[in-house]
Amino acid sequence: PKVTYIEAGGEVHDVEVATGLSVMEGARSNGIPGIEADCGGVCACATCHVFVDPDWYAATGGPNENEHDMLDCATDPGPTSRLSCQIAMTGALDGLVVRLPATQR
Ligand code: FES
Repeated sequence: PKVTYIEAGGEVHDVEVATGLSVMEGARSNGIPGIEADCGGVCACATCHVFVDPDWYAATGGPNENEHDMLDCATDPGPTSRLSCQIAMTGALDGLVVRLPATQR
């Protein structure tokens, strides 16, 4: 499935992310800046914060309680904020659009 990552500065990256990989892993393996992922994907750092495009937010299922708590540690979270290590790619997310915060470089 395809994911579109949009950097804070406006640069757009369209990449294929294999089913089962997380949106965080997809960015890291494609060298897309803007996702630090200090904890390596275990929902413990909030440096993989992304803003999911509002049209896609429902499809991602929203954060569980643990992620919800951790999102409070992200910088300036918004109503469609997610931790990208907690979004696993599926065919249903083909075309997903996420925006990267200016604070993760
Ligand atoms: Fe640390 Fe996602 S990589 S919370």
